[in-house]
Amino acid sequence: MTTATLQNLPRTIEWVGDLSGHVALIDQTLLPEHLAIVQCHDVQTLWQAIRRLQVRGAPALGIAAAMGVVLGVRSSRAATVEELRADIDGVCAYLGGARPTAVNLFWALDRMRAWGAAWGRAAVDGLKLSLLEEARRIRDEDAATCRAIGCAGAHLIRDGTGVLTHCNAGWLATAEFGTALALMYTAHEAGRRFHVYADETRPLLQGSRLTAWELSRAGIDVTVVCDNMAGLLMRQGKIDLVVTGADRIAANGDVANKVGTYSVAVLAEAHRIPFYVAAPSSTFDSQTPSGDRIPIEERDAEEVRRGFGRLTVPADVPCFNPAFDVTPARLIRGIVTERGMIEPVQRDRIDAVLGKEPGGRGHHTLRRE
Ligand code: MRU
Repeated sequence: MTTATLQNLPRTIEWVGDLSGHVALIDQTLLPEHLAIVQCHDVQTLWQAIRRLQVRGAPALGIAAAMGVVLGVRSSRAATVEELRADIDGVCAYLGGARPTAVNLFWALDRMRAWGAAWGRAAVDGLKLSLLEEARRIRDEDAATCRAIGCAGAHLIRDGTGVLTHCNAGWLATAEFGTALALMYTAHEAGRRFHVYADETRPLLQGSRLTAWELSRAGIDVTVVCDNMAGLLMRQGKIDLVVTGADRIAANGDVANKVGTYSVAVLAEAHRIPFYVAAPSSTFDSQTPSGDRIPIEERDAEEVRRGFGRLTVPADVPCFNPAFDVTPARLIRGIVTERGMIEPVQRDRIDAVLGKEPGGRGHHTLRRE
């Protein structure tokens, strides 16, 4: 049974203990060889965990950022709530520099700052405790959101469907259950038999190391393919549906996700295969008008040149390593959210499903760029 198997997994990320406790997260750099937990007792260790991708995936980054705020301010010597708010701002600015693309990180920092700003009492310790409660709420809400996304999109997967996914948008990328993979877990729980093809996802192999690991543990049929095999699979008629996650969705519906997603979307269009994205409302950024304004993280060239310890590129040849790319809204058939399906992917449909005022301000105010 899927849920039983998945529930045996440790939480992707959680706060352990009371305010003097710590953040525990699955070290995703070690999978699939080792399932190990990293303990973060200070905000610097958590920042490093984010930068090194020990914790990764947009919703999980939001949870990490919220818990990081607690780690960063719990020992603050602020004598007044006003002083503590200044410390919260400082920690948010620090954490906001860890990774630039996933908007969930900034969404969570904004939410923690807003929580501090709305605190109406004089007790500094009370606010610290309350920030921990808010961070835990962000985790728990994400878990519920993922279940709702699964319910909203599972109908796309029927008996016999061949599904292609890219990167990892599953249990490991969220509080639990996932976004794109939530559709698969929910369809599996409903007794449907289908096959998932997981793109390997160069250069850090989130597809082969993480997606294949968690789907196989859940008893879902999964085959790993190299990224350059997707076109062949489509031509062979093995793919009926593509579903990926998202790191940031601009106001016009353009989607930033793991680099290579755009290529898959173009291939899907060429083969008339529906391409869907699954993401929570916290991944939508109404302040960024279109995909070309989304900041794209560029990572160390060594990740390409010397992937997993072996020199695979001549040492003196430059490598380019953008972590994400942007898929234009026109290539996306629909976006599955916890509030329902956005289809077609257009600004007015996004606003209608998310319940925002058309053209109204979004809630992401903290920006790195
Ligand atoms: O660099 P990563 O591993 O953090 O990239 C993650 C992705 O691109 C995921 O597809 C995205 O965050 C969605 S997770 C539900």
